[in-house]
Amino acid sequence: MIMEEQDKNNEIIGRRALLKKSIAAGTGIGASLAGASVLAQQKPEKLITEIQDWNRYLGEGVDARPYGRPSQFEADTIRRDVAWLTADPKASVNFTPLHKIEGIITPSGLCFERHHGGIAEIDPGDHRFMINGLVDTPLVFTMEDLARFPKENQVYFLECAANTGMEWRGAQLNGCQFTHGMVHNVMYTGVKLKHLLDEAGLKTNAKWLLPEGADPSHMTRSIPMEKALEDCLVATHMNGEALRPEQGYPLRLVVPGWEGNMWVKWLRRIEVGDKPWHHREETSKYTDLLEDGSARRFTWVMEVKSVITNPSPQAPINHGRGQLSLSGLAWSGQGKIKRVDVSIDGGRNWTTARLDGPSLSKSVHRFYYDFNWDGREMFLQSRAIDEFGNVQPTKDQLRAARGVNSIYHNNSIQTWHVRNDGSIENVEIS
Ligand code: MTE
Ligand code: CO
Repeated sequence: MIMEEQDKNNEIIGRRALLKKSIAAGTGIGASLAGASVLAQQKPEKLITEIQDWNRYLGEGVDARPYGRPSQFEADTIRRDVAWLTADPKASVNFTPLHKIEGIITPSGLCFERHHGGIAEIDPGDHRFMINGLVDTPLVFTMEDLARFPKENQVYFLECAANTGMEWRGAQLNGCQFTHGMVHNVMYTGVKLKHLLDEAGLKTNAKWLLPEGADPSHMTRSIPMEKALEDCLVATHMNGEALRPEQGYPLRLVVPGWEGNMWVKWLRRIEVGDKPWHHREETSKYTDLLEDGSARRFTWVMEVKSVITNPSPQAPINHGRGQLSLSGLAWSGQGKIKRVDVSIDGGRNWTTARLDGPSLSKSVHRFYYDFNWDGREMFLQSRAIDEFGNVQPTKDQLRAARGVNSIYHNNSIQTWHVRNDGSIENVEIS
């Protein structure tokens, strides 16, 4: 049978002809030849033979884009929301287009947003950050005061505890942007919270902190002192530039590896106390109701998790059978990712994927699995293991432990059903 495949420029090329050519050339790659067509086989077409406009006329000058923006042809690479999820966009969420990005750093303009009271627009000259409560000297900092402290740069993921929350009871949203897109991974520049607490001087009974946001939601969360002194940052910059307004400009708390809700944006105050406050966001919300009616609370760490981003429902296989570059992301709130396994048959057989790019603690890791797709349907899964041996659970394992009442902390294995034609759907197998 002569397989025909369509190349990028809409030219039909006989696969048999391609095979002959590659054998003659001694490449021996045979059926895995993909992603390119042999020049000698190309019909003359104007994209190759004629000079195009962009190759002929002068382009825009350096005055056209004082602040850069993506190519007009990338208009589809945007955050998206799910209309029925929330009643009002000011207390809502949109999602990172994970299927459209590469590497490990999330571009600032694509980081998902979660606001409980809209975006506070704050002039940094008017912003004040306070530390009060169980300290020797209550302090007020201007942004200029903060800029005098020693800085550090760290790459961390932020995952909302509700990420993948809509999938607890069954497969629901069709795309990794919607099932897993409440995560972003950026480089923060900031001051260690420890330096600022030292400046105020902690009393001996100082055991907990209550950071508070300057937005209308007055976001507050109780944070144990050990975590604050270990690795929390008060950040002013992300990916090298000032925080974006939607990410908490001019100041945000960074709580590495812990649920996103604790990363208070538009940070205006930290109260120091001797016990947790049990505010709304840690009692009625961000607490996991179990089957027996009891609740897991203070579930801060985001456990080991991964997802295949390409191919996925929004990024189907358009190139037909043959060589395929599968890609995905893995992360753990405990530390680094040690290994990611990939299955194409719904978890019966597993192959170790290739980790690529920097491996940083509490940051996302990029993985790839390069293989030859024979055109048969697949059930794609990925399973991450972190440096402490924590293994990402199956959905059944997670439900056996936690039931189906929760929306928070779903770190279970995701399945994508790939049909013969390359289209893909979010499914569940047990
Ligand atoms: N901080 C304030 N002040 N107000 C908020 O609404 N949302 C929280 C947290 N910090 C929030 C906040 C939640 S639930 C999450 S998941 C993260 O911010 C989202 O951060 P992002 O918008 O940078 O993605
Ligand atoms: Co959240």
